[in-house]
Amino acid sequence: MHKLSCKKNSQRTWLLSVYFRQITLLFICILAKISECICPRGETDITPVFGTGIGGSNPPEGTEDLNITQYNRRLNVITLSNGHQFEYMAASGALAYFGRGWWWEKPLVWLGLLDPSLFTVVTKTLTYRPRRGNLRWYKPWSCVRPIRGGMVNAVGLTNPGYKWWCRERVDQLMRQACDTSKPAIPLVISLMSESGIKEVKVMARQLRRFPIRLRVVGVELNASCPNTQSAALADPALVVDQCHAVKDEYPGPLILKLSVMHDVAKIVPKLDGVVEALSINSVPWRLVYPNRPSPLHRHGGGGVSGQAAQPYTWQLVRRLADLTDIPVIGPSVWEFNDIARLRKLKAAAISFGSVFLRYPWRPTLFVRQDRPLAP
Ligand SMILES: Cc1cc2nc3c(=O)[nH]c(=O)nc-3n(C[C@H](O)[C@H](O)[C@H](O)COP(=O)(O)O)c2cc1C
Repeated sequence: MHKLSCKKNSQRTWLLSVYFRQITLLFICILAKISECICPRGETDITPVFGTGIGGSNPPEGTEDLNITQYNRRLNVITLSNGHQFEYMAASGALAYFGRGWWWEKPLVWLGLLDPSLFTVVTKTLTYRPRRGNLRWYKPWSCVRPIRGGMVNAVGLTNPGYKWWCRERVDQLMRQACDTSKPAIPLVISLMSESGIKEVKVMARQLRRFPIRLRVVGVELNASCPNTQSAALADPALVVDQCHAVKDEYPGPLILKLSVMHDVAKIVPKLDGVVEALSINSVPWRLVYPNRPSPLHRHGGGGVSGQAAQPYTWQLVRRLADLTDIPVIGPSVWEFNDIARLRKLKAAAISFGSVFLRYPWRPTLFVRQDRPLAP
């Protein structure tokens, strides 16, 4: 009897603590939103990471003296072979599995402060088999943490598996797509193979069967997760082979997601005519903060993203833009002026990743500011 009441008590305490955290999160969001409204455009309260503190280094060449007001903005758009055009992307994981946002982002979606329809949305990465990873819906902070000017995550590709997703979720997506009261969201399906090219071939083949109405505009091959033991991270030939394998099976556009750890000179020149755009993943913790233990050290350190990752991800944007004509999608936007900085580095479109998790309303606000006439 005593044991039972103890158990009930501890369950009650646990539930209370979950509610408390959620309410705190909501409260912080509201406060941050108010402070953002007070801040004039582009002047956010975030200290630039360049040259300061841990992980700080010099800005990538070409952005130091960038005078934003003098920068002559041109419309940067990526046009894929199926005619889909996009300027702004929501990175994989930023808006959950379907591109409609994580549960804690829903109030902002309802309020119109987060509008997924402004973005071409990459789904959270799917692997062929289900992967437990480290993400638990009731305590997401155990593998996603805020750091100064960014985030570190060690989600480890938690996902229900491609087969399950296709079986259980395509119908749901279809219902959403048929619901004319909601704007359609163009989706890019993110896939990762855990074993060579066979899995990725099977998954790509299946994509062909997706109804056109779903607005699947392409596939992103994730060859760069910092939280898994992916062989593709260390093997450029495997990345090239995987891209060809997807292309053999799926006629639509292919986007390749690279890591700053990749030897890109051995990959990218071999993918002309195969890959239609390049995106960039988060940066392993040990690279950004070699002398600091990660708050997620028990999950292997995690990947750093956001402003804290800019010295690395932006260097890769520049390198890729010099190396190839394949359009590069620039990541790590944290404040409004980062969009112009990325364009100066020749990014052909802009990706919003962890900024969605830290300041969920910012990408929508930035896109509306960047393109005042956008819907
Ligand atoms: C919580 C979280 C989950 C993520 N999940 C995935 C994923 O499933 N697949 C993937 O390719 N990238 C994933 N990423 C990486 C982002 O898509 C993005 O590449 C990364 O955050 C770097 O971009 P950023 O600096 O703009 O945030 C995830 C990032 C975060 C913070």
